[in-house]
Amino acid sequence: MKTRLEDALQHCSPQLAAALRPYVMADTFKASFSAEEVSVLKHASGLSTTDLSLALLPLAASYAITPLSHFKVGAIAQGISGRWYLGANMEFASAPIQQTIHAEQSAINHAWMCNEPQLTAVTVNYTPCGHCRQFMNELNSAQQLTIYLPGRPPQTLHDYLPNAFGPKDLGITDTLFDPQTHAFAAQSDPLIQAAVDAASQSYAPYTHAYSGIALQIDNGYWVTGRYAENAAFNPSLPPLQSALIMMQLQGHSASAITRAVLVEVSDAALSQQSASAAILTALGGYSLETVTVAPK
Ligand code: THU
Ligand code: ZN
Repeated sequence: MKTRLEDALQHCSPQLAAALRPYVMADTFKASFSAEEVSVLKHASGLSTTDLSLALLPLAASYAITPLSHFKVGAIAQGISGRWYLGANMEFASAPIQQTIHAEQSAINHAWMCNEPQLTAVTVNYTPCGHCRQFMNELNSAQQLTIYLPGRPPQTLHDYLPNAFGPKDLGITDTLFDPQTHAFAAQSDPLIQAAVDAASQSYAPYTHAYSGIALQIDNGYWVTGRYAENAAFNPSLPPLQSALIMMQLQGHSASAITRAVLVEVSDAALSQQSASAAILTALGGYSLETVTVAPK
């Protein structure tokens, strides 16, 4: 990943590349920039906030995994805290094409997994597809969200998605990024507990089929992922995709997985089990443990 990041710096101005290098090359870099770092980068590059977000898109796109299209999309989700979260598309060879993760979903999931309370804007290097527009319409900031694209004036999400179908059409007032705390029984196994914690923060207002994933990484460390449901159902982000985004953005390849645990609600209306197991098989034959938990 370091080589890809270094290559991406070649697409930045020398001033921006010099300011970025110490952050990006640090072992602690996790594909996001704090408000303070954004301000340092603005100062060093002389760019406006918007132009800086556009200039960072090659860096975001360098995280893309595209064995099918070789088409790299980068996105930056801008949090109300001032932190910027990078994201990129991720494709899975040998799995159904519907399992693909779009760059906008990656950046937004990244911010959500870091407990960012709200997004103000998303910057992306290609016009967001219909699926991403619908995914973004689930956000608690859908009414105000600004979309920045190279060579286009800033526009709101609803300029891109007029007459939107959303949570309210299904009688739901909850939105994505509203804090979720669903209670489940505690588990003694720490990895299973991590997946339970992810499930308890998952967003599934339509089916209540809360779910979470924990992926153990070979260095004795794990990443988690939460299910993010969508009013139009198909753009929902499954918990495994959420966890794989976090792995990729933290610089770990899927080959680092040593154990995978899915936690689902018992007697749920739907299950992530078979789709998640299929992706883990496609990624290299990892087996999936599934634990069902009863709501407390
Ligand atoms: N892609 C995105 O990441 N975002 C969009 O909104 C447009 C499409 C990705 C998905 C797939 O990996 C590749 O671009 C080709 O469609
Ligand atoms: Zn899309």
